[in-house]
Amino acid sequence: MSQSYQLADKVAVVTGASSGIGAATARRLAERGMTVVAAARRVDRLDRLASEQARIHARQVDVTDTESVDALAADVREQFGACHVLVNNAGIGGGPFRSRADLDDAMGTIDVNVFGVMRCTAAFADLLEAGAPSRVINVGSVAGKLGLGPAAYAASKFAVVGFSEALSFSWAERGITVCQLNPGFIATEGFPQEQVKRTPIRGLVGKPTDVAAAIEEAIVTGTTERTVPRFYRPFVVLRHTATPLYRAIARKLPRATGTRD
Ligand SMILES: NC(=O)c1ccc[n+]([C@@H]2O[C@H](COP(=O)([O-])OP(=O)(O)OC[C@H]3O[C@@H](n4cnc5c(N)ncnc54)[C@H](OP(=O)(O)O)[C@@H]3O)[C@@H](O)[C@H]2O)c1
Repeated sequence: MSQSYQLADKVAVVTGASSGIGAATARRLAERGMTVVAAARRVDRLDRLASEQARIHARQVDVTDTESVDALAADVREQFGACHVLVNNAGIGGGPFRSRADLDDAMGTIDVNVFGVMRCTAAFADLLEAGAPSRVINVGSVAGKLGLGPAAYAASKFAVVGFSEALSFSWAERGITVCQLNPGFIATEGFPQEQVKRTPIRGLVGKPTDVAAAIEEAIVTGTTERTVPRFYRPFVVLRHTATPLYRAIARKLPRATGTRD
């Protein structure tokens, strides 16, 4: 790790911490001595996580509700006095986009994955600046670089990538590093990857703990982009440097049709 950022005794807020990547990240950052505010809608799951480690504090939030997100930020300010690291991880998959019947589903995906990230980033901006040097880690996706998978999901993650890229420049002068952290296939509750596990690329499916480790590394090094697992990175590079070749390969890949029918 090229730069050093002390984690111990700093405060991290992790959204979507009730399962998968968020839960693994909350555990990992708490093990490194951070005070972790673990936020999501399912409080029973968060309470169970918090019971594992005294440094983890459960808080309910719905990232589609601006008041709920603002209340979380006010609570963190009052109870913990700081936020040095915000991990915008809450997210949902998407279904196929075929017709008018799929519009609400698509807009729901955008609401959680894009507006949720914006609501949280806005609500914590002042606290992050006050705690600088600080970090925002936006969990995007390789689907936000390659346009594979359900269309609205890919669109939501392209938006996360664009938002993160632009903020990484404009917030640098405030002492806030903004990272787009793009996982590939990771088996979780919301993304079981059953389809992928039945294909020849099943070996590419990673674990939530792989992503948690990459998030820790991104916080410590202050990098603004990370693909995890790293072996997806050449596809991202190929997409931008040899687009026709990439598309010829992508046409032959098994299509992920989505996490909803
Ligand atoms: N797994 C993959 O293959 C993969 C690949 C690339 C990117 N990602 C991204 O990684 C992130 C985490 O996903 P995961 O794989 O760990 O899936 P997961 O286990 O289903 O976790 C999703 C988390 O988001 C929370 N969430 C959903 N809607 C929410 C809302 N309205 N308000 C607050 N929290 C909400 C869920 O908690 P509650 O239901 O309790 O609210 C849950 O904790 C997502 O952004 C996903 O797009 C995943």
